[in-house]
Amino acid sequence: MNIRMIAKLAAGAALIAMTAGAAKAAEQVEVLHWWTSGGEAAALNVLKENLQKQGVAWKDMPVAGGAGSAAMTALRARVTAGDPPTAVQLLGFDLKDWAEMGVAANLDDLAKKEGWDKVIPAALQNFSKYDGHWIAAPVNIHSTNWLWINKAALDKAGGKVPTNIAELITLLDAFKGQGLTALAHGGVPWQDGTLWEAVVLSTGGPDFYKKAVLDLDPAALSGDTMKKVFDTMSKLRTYFDPNFSGREWNLSTALVIEGKAGAQEMGDWSKGEWLRANKKPGTDFVCIRFPGTQGSVLFNADQFMMFNVGGDAEKAQFKMASAVEDPAFQIAFNTVKGSVPARTDVSNEKFDDCGKKGMADLTEASSKGTLMGSLAHGYAQPAAIKEAMLDVITQHLNGQLTTEAALKRLPEAVKAAK
Ligand code: GAL
Repeated sequence: MNIRMIAKLAAGAALIAMTAGAAKAAEQVEVLHWWTSGGEAAALNVLKENLQKQGVAWKDMPVAGGAGSAAMTALRARVTAGDPPTAVQLLGFDLKDWAEMGVAANLDDLAKKEGWDKVIPAALQNFSKYDGHWIAAPVNIHSTNWLWINKAALDKAGGKVPTNIAELITLLDAFKGQGLTALAHGGVPWQDGTLWEAVVLSTGGPDFYKKAVLDLDPAALSGDTMKKVFDTMSKLRTYFDPNFSGREWNLSTALVIEGKAGAQEMGDWSKGEWLRANKKPGTDFVCIRFPGTQGSVLFNADQFMMFNVGGDAEKAQFKMASAVEDPAFQIAFNTVKGSVPARTDVSNEKFDDCGKKGMADLTEASSKGTLMGSLAHGYAQPAAIKEAMLDVITQHLNGQLTTEAALKRLPEAVKAAK
């Protein structure tokens, strides 16, 4: 069922939920999320424990599947059944979609008391607020244009990090020569899209990313630069292993950690897996911006939207939102998760080199106007357009569409989804 198709049902559901909410334990949050990998679960534990210390019980509703598409299906089912969870992990345009249905709680009083307006970057506030009101508490800022490289394999290949796609190809050839899977990739639409958006940024630069992905300019979606993007995707596919199809992202990260693969293009949640495996940046792995994208950041921020369930549950929801924005928590959580703080006033002291780089890159990109939303993670386009684009990208990567056909289909798919 489409998110918009259940708008009416959702309005009714909110009412039912208010009644149900009153019956719920006074100090409990039920949290729907997709943080089920080792690194993700470790980060979530920081929040769970923080709330438990404050006497707020945690009812876990994990729905496995990177980037949350399975979680979103579960959420729609819960709302349709009139029993929404109290707090939900959401990304970008999905926040707007739910808020539009009138099911979000209003966090204005808390945000005002704690001065969120001054410390949460505007790029996030665009999504944490709806119609001028705070509806969600952003927990982090991730970014997708990263490359994670096995340090031993890199050293064996000469130690030079690639700064453009041609150098990346040379490095991948060297990894192949070492008998490794050169590029660890999981063939699912959001991962294909995560790779594709980094290639778009590298190939055309930030202005092209804006034109094609943010403005959906039909000429940019089907022109020569986009042809190069699709050609590069076809080339990169030749460096995957035969079992890439359908593989979860963390299993690909594990291949690089174990030295079976050379590198992975992935958001910085990947670092959470490295840290869980007791690996150190600079010693065991190297984090660089995806070759050719230094200076720009494609961001996605996890946010907890509170559903308007009213009653006693509200107290626990506010406690959770307040805990999430606590600067000490922002450090404790994000150093484990691989992301950077969602507040601008947090010191980078406790972060490792990749974290420090992430924070510095973010500041640079936001001052230069090259901080842009990730398509694959819901910050560039609403779900319908995102999915239509991912469909074309995946079909092309799987060889079901030629580059020529993909160039024709991409603007068509966007137009049809608008
Ligand atoms: C992203 C999310 C991250 C991360 C990743 C893989 O969409 O923002 O927190 O966990 O999915 O599941």
